[in-house]
Amino acid sequence: MEVIMLKHSFFTLSVFLLCMSGCVDGSDPVNQTPMLWKFQDDNATMECSHTKGSTYRQMYWYQQLPAQNMKQIVLTTTYSPHEYEQGFNKEKFPAQKKDAETGSLTLNKLQPEDSGVYFCAVSESQ
Ligand SMILES: *[C@@H]1O[C@H](CO)[C@@H](O)[C@H](O)[C@H]1NC(C)=O
Repeated sequence: MEVIMLKHSFFTLSVFLLCMSGCVDGSDPVNQTPMLWKFQDDNATMECSHTKGSTYRQMYWYQQLPAQNMKQIVLTTTYSPHEYEQGFNKEKFPAQKKDAETGSLTLNKLQPEDSGVYFCAVSESQ
């Protein structure tokens, strides 16, 4: 999971990304970027990788904002266009899925309201 927390200092606003491991099955096969420091208006890229095999070609990205339900941002695959959910778009949340084992999600132009928990999940394609 990616946790983005905001840290205010005198004149700057930082966005803190923290990863807690275990995105699927609560165990090791899926990993995400461990930790990043970002400033407001920066872009943040989160990487996700897994070792579940080449049939796991679907990667989902989710956002959980404070006191809100988890929302799916996008479904990415190696073989079809990304499918964005309502309220999310590729300009703000560009994603990459170049091979079965890896993928990334970028948040462009970070804002305080982007603060939340982000995580990925993978699934096998039919
Ligand atoms: C963030 O990404 C956008 C779109 O790709 C780019 O135009 C912009 O320069 C990037 N900003 C930073 C701070 O890297």
